[in-house]
Amino acid sequence: MKIQRFSRIGFVMAAAGSAVGLGNIWKFPYMTGVYGGGAFVLVYLITITFIGFSVMVAEMLIGALGRKDTVGSFEALAPSNKKYWKYAGFMSFNGIIIMTFYSVVIGWIFYYLVRVLFSLPSTPNEAKEIFNTLVGSSPAIAIFCHTLSVVIVGYIVHKGIKGGIEKINLILMPSLMIILFGLLFYSFTLDGFSKALAFMFEPRWDKLTSEAFIRAIGHSFFTLSLGMGAIMTYAASLPKEASITKTAFIVTFMDTLIALVAGLVIFSFIFQFGAKPSQGPGLVFISLPTILHNFGYLGTFFAFLFFLAVAFAGITSAISLVEPVVQYLIDRFNFSRTKAVIFISFIYWVIGILALLSYTNSFKEVLTIFNKPLFDVLEYMTDSILLPLGGFLIVIFVGYVLQKDRVKAALESEMGRFYPIWMFSIRYIAPIALIFMMLNLIGIIKL
Ligand code: TRP
Repeated sequence: MKIQRFSRIGFVMAAAGSAVGLGNIWKFPYMTGVYGGGAFVLVYLITITFIGFSVMVAEMLIGALGRKDTVGSFEALAPSNKKYWKYAGFMSFNGIIIMTFYSVVIGWIFYYLVRVLFSLPSTPNEAKEIFNTLVGSSPAIAIFCHTLSVVIVGYIVHKGIKGGIEKINLILMPSLMIILFGLLFYSFTLDGFSKALAFMFEPRWDKLTSEAFIRAIGHSFFTLSLGMGAIMTYAASLPKEASITKTAFIVTFMDTLIALVAGLVIFSFIFQFGAKPSQGPGLVFISLPTILHNFGYLGTFFAFLFFLAVAFAGITSAISLVEPVVQYLIDRFNFSRTKAVIFISFIYWVIGILALLSYTNSFKEVLTIFNKPLFDVLEYMTDSILLPLGGFLIVIFVGYVLQKDRVKAALESEMGRFYPIWMFSIRYIAPIALIFMMLNLIGIIKL
């Protein structure tokens, strides 16, 4: 088995491409809106700095030392109990579960990318109608767009690390940043900008409910692509001379910056026309297009650019969700890359269609489990159980199982005097935070 290596810049872009996704441009802004702004953002920033970054270093370390698929890396590195630790590697299968709904949302974005070119909705009701028709009553279009997303993502992954993943990230990531920063510069000229700044950065503690608090911690894992082996799988192709700490830092920084910029852009437009920030998942699909209607042709142009950026972000993340299992099938079962991609894509394509149908009026009833549409169940399961569990296994493995001198040899020279602080975070802070988060999200203890 031979794993290709990224170039240094290729790795940074691929890891950042994984991290920067729908989580940053779609989810972070709407969550910030729903959970009241500043205080939510602050908790998110603190978690990213003190836990997210450390866990990213840990996850990269396993990949860079193991140099195999996730199952292979855990098995190769565990000093004893290899048989059991191997199972930790199955966290990569969560990527397929995430893809079932992630790909559906990418599909919605493809639809909007074309839809906004024709006309932007002039009233919120019209915008709702467009969104509800797509999601609730015309599954054929949504299925078509989801299929398109499955095909595009599959095509890139089948091209491999060098010719597919690295190449596409080197193009899409800079393009995405240019678009977002362009929109940011435009939003400086809006009156809404200062309101957006205040909304996002003035912590109003009274608005920080316990739910908001837990959600902020949970989101910081999702947005950094942690706890599923995506970063680990990419790190197996880390070029030899690259510094893990530095790379993890750049990736964390870029991911956070882009989430904040996306938030500022969206809220500047929202506040410019006095719309409410707290509209939930429909924020970028319903509120934003309605507001951009006021800008005439320029609005159409902005809307197109915006959805293009979201599409780019989504695609580069999606490939990191599929690649780990593909790598596993290649390593372990001697699948050809193409066969592995087709096999995996087919599974999440089918479940994705079911998830998508669970929102439609005609299939709602059959596809409701535990009183929730299948789509929500899949999302809830990954956010609250699977990702924190994966993160927990990673920090326990690096903090307690891997030989200390091995970890030290790999990281101490990079980190210098921060090494003991990082170790403390991995051994104590991160595991406790993760358990706390899981229990809370599952609802066993209520804050
Ligand atoms: N981080 C991506 C986002 O913000 C989603 C994602 C990609 C992800 N790969 C992942 C989340 C692996 C968890 C684990 O949209």
